[in-house]
Amino acid sequence: MPAPPGPDVRGFLSDAEGSALYEAACYAGTIGPVLEIGSWCGRSTIWLAQGAREAGTIVFALDHHRGSEEHQPGEMFHDPDLIDGDGNVDTLREFRRNIARADVEAHVIPIVAGTAQVTRFFRPQLGMVFIDGGHSIEAALTDWRSFGQCLLPGGILAIHDVFTDAGAGGQAPYTVWRLALDSGLYKEHGATESLRLLLRLS
Ligand SMILES: C[S@@+](CC[C@H](N)C(=O)[O-])C[C@H]1O[C@@H](n2cnc3c(N)ncnc32)[C@H](O)[C@@H]1O
Repeated sequence: MPAPPGPDVRGFLSDAEGSALYEAACYAGTIGPVLEIGSWCGRSTIWLAQGAREAGTIVFALDHHRGSEEHQPGEMFHDPDLIDGDGNVDTLREFRRNIARADVEAHVIPIVAGTAQVTRFFRPQLGMVFIDGGHSIEAALTDWRSFGQCLLPGGILAIHDVFTDAGAGGQAPYTVWRLALDSGLYKEHGATESLRLLLRLS
């Protein structure tokens, strides 16, 4: 097993969820590259990149690095240490530092942009897609519609923060998980805490 990211790597993923992502990337990375939507400071990226390294592939790490709604000043998950000189959330510097310290730079291609910005120009064939970007319904649906169809048969769709009970958390990731299952193109492939894995059938 790889070393988990240290506690100084800010993020929203438990070690058990990270370990499941690593295992999924080890397998799905043999089918094609990995796309992560929502890197923040690199916690999930490090797990995925270690799996991609095992599989001989790379992780496209897509994030505009300006934070989601809940990270903005005054919101629940705001971190004042991640504000740049202009008063904006900026996680890119911290992300690059963490990726370098984890020695996985060779297995990560950062894409500093929003999903809607890149989708017209970037249509890769992928072995794995990890959706952990914006949690508004609009953002989550854009992630799904943009890259759900890029998964190759046998690939893995991973979605974070899936809560079947609306009282436990926001419902946008759950909505994407349901849409994928209802499409008939995916079947369940495991769950660890709020992380759900789906296997692309065809
Ligand atoms: C919950 S955090 C990701 C946490 C990360 N996966 C981890 O392990 O700690 C969500 C991230 O999605 C990014 N994000 C939000 N909306 C986005 C969009 N439309 N396109 C790209 N990234 C977006 C935010 O900048 C933020 O870094």
